[in-house]
Amino acid sequence: MRIGLLNGGGDCPGLNAVTHGVVGTATRLGWEVLGFRDGYEGLLAPGDYKILKVEKTEGILKLGGTILGTSNRGHFAGKVGEGGVRRIPKELMEAAFQTLRRLDVSALICVGGDGSLTTALQFHEEGFPVVGVPKTIDNDLDATATSFGFDSAVQVVTEALDRLHTTAESHRRVMVLEVMGRHAGWIALYGGIAGGASSILIPEIPFAYEKVAEAILERERLGFHSALVVVAEGAAPAGGSLVVEDAGGGGEVRLGGVGDLVAKRLAELTGKETRCTRLGHLQRGGSPTCLDRVLGMRFGVEAVKLIEEKRFGRMVSYQQYHVGSVLIEDAVRKLKLVDPEGEIVEAAKSVGICFGD
Ligand code: F6P
Repeated sequence: MRIGLLNGGGDCPGLNAVTHGVVGTATRLGWEVLGFRDGYEGLLAPGDYKILKVEKTEGILKLGGTILGTSNRGHFAGKVGEGGVRRIPKELMEAAFQTLRRLDVSALICVGGDGSLTTALQFHEEGFPVVGVPKTIDNDLDATATSFGFDSAVQVVTEALDRLHTTAESHRRVMVLEVMGRHAGWIALYGGIAGGASSILIPEIPFAYEKVAEAILERERLGFHSALVVVAEGAAPAGGSLVVEDAGGGGEVRLGGVGDLVAKRLAELTGKETRCTRLGHLQRGGSPTCLDRVLGMRFGVEAVKLIEEKRFGRMVSYQQYHVGSVLIEDAVRKLKLVDPEGEIVEAAKSVGICFGD
């Protein structure tokens, strides 16, 4: 038996841990694993792949990025613009199926986020046996409590805030940190709390500049002369719109730049020296945390089990400390967003964190 494995979407700490889990488990079952390069692009004729042997994947668990390569643009983008679903053209699907049939691949594991799993669902609907594995630093996939990559990204945000803190205090400044997360505020929320931000601006809670400025001035009155403000790239003022860096070139729009706007406006309103740092791809780079290594490996093992049990069209899912599975369609139907009235936001507010609302 031969199975295929591909990574779709942006790279993410823990992807190699999934590969380690898949190859280790499949090899013990006597199966061969073909790793397709650069996501779904590797399925185009004649097929760009390497045979993954366990000797080559032992030890990759701790490596960041992906040894297979990935793509969040190109022929098979499942989501475009601000998250609209794109139907993959029939002839493209057929070309991919032909490659898979010719290589004698009987099932495919697609590791990806919202967009890549939307493509995986279309493969399944067209009759090819597919299993999905959730991958996202943004933590925005519904039907899984979390995914590998998120913890690593939050760790980077926390460390960045720890470092910004010293400059903020030394110079009595407001330091704004713009973080990733697309349309979800999870990275900003967890990173902001862990790193001691006094304001956290997220897409789920439209903010007013005046409220954030007032919170900074109130700190000043209490004797705290510096402030850390975390801004999610998808955050926007009430009545305002998303700050888009570019249209996405055939994929989803690229967000970015709101941090600079926030810093400028806060400087005007508070009279305090305010600087902005955009953390960017540092959040996706480097080695996965222990948690993401273990989670990625467990997800890979579960994906192979789903194929063994012929439970196709399902996505590995993490719920209540247990790795199980759900239908892919349940995972991609809607994004998992921060609940503005939920317990975490309430907890943050009760220790004085301002959300600008
Ligand atoms: O979805 C992961 C993510 O890192 C988002 O947080 C971010 O908006 C986007 O990907 C950036 O994509 P790219 O690497 O194409 O700029």
